[in-house]
Amino acid sequence: MPMLTTTTVDQVRQAVKQARTDGLRIGLVPTMGHLHQGHLSLIRAARLDCPYVVVSIFVNPTQFVAGDDYQTYPRTPQTDLDACRAEKVDLVFAPHTEEMYHHQPLTTVQVAKLTETLCGAHRPGHFDGVTTVVAKLFNIVQPDAAYFGQKDAQQVVVIKKMAADLFFPVQIVVCPTVRGPDGLALSSRNDYLSDPEREQAASLNAALQAAADQIAQGQRATDKLIALMRNRIPSVGCWIDYVAIVHPETLEPVDQITGPVLLAIAVRIGKARLIDNMLAAP
Ligand code: PAJ
Repeated sequence: MPMLTTTTVDQVRQAVKQARTDGLRIGLVPTMGHLHQGHLSLIRAARLDCPYVVVSIFVNPTQFVAGDDYQTYPRTPQTDLDACRAEKVDLVFAPHTEEMYHHQPLTTVQVAKLTETLCGAHRPGHFDGVTTVVAKLFNIVQPDAAYFGQKDAQQVVVIKKMAADLFFPVQIVVCPTVRGPDGLALSSRNDYLSDPEREQAASLNAALQAAADQIAQGQRATDKLIALMRNRIPSVGCWIDYVAIVHPETLEPVDQITGPVLLAIAVRIGKARLIDNMLAAP
């Protein structure tokens, strides 16, 4: 079947209804486009699991906060569609803003507490935008499974909680972070980096790896590990938003490592705000 591309909710509903009538399991991969290998890994995971794969491409204005890069966020619709076609995606939903936010909506989906820490503390309102648009997409597509990247660890925790709290009948599948040869997690925002900035950006993964190594060697004190990670980030040209060690589900800070933890970093380098994380266990 040729790939169908649409900008309307109605057409998505029709196409998905047919797929459901045909008894097909439906997988959704929500994206903001400018697709890279990280996105493609989610599409491939969906492709393996689901005979009907929907990819949404929508640069969601409500998750960008003041000072963010909404206007300049890279938009490459044609290459994105080609990439989806090559991955044998069944349906691409690429709505205009008015389609997703018509009639001046008055409803926001907000997950408390989990959104007040880490990136939520530095980008107030960001996760409300994410959960609101993902809830809309879940209602439009009604997928059996939805695919998200571990790269955005807090986003995964927040979306899982939203889906559980609101009884969305959707399985949330989390896929590993895809990295470049220098360890830098792939991100649409890496395009903002100059060559020297990209070298600096590789320090995020190096810092996480160094901390994970120390944990493997028996270090249990998170203040020492946080200091170690901070020291690995270049002091010139990099602005640290946070370096944290938290519980992987509650996102609460951990003092002594006695179980699995999430190591998480957010740094601004040049025009890019980069995040990365790693799960570690004693
Ligand atoms: P976007 O940044 O385009 O990412 C879409 C999906 O790709 C997310 O689940 C993200 O975690 C995943 N992803 C990005 N880089 C990755 C990498 N290097 N390895 C593995 N997965 C990666 O995240 C969003 O869009 C939006 O917030 C969205 C969920 C679409 C809501 O608007």
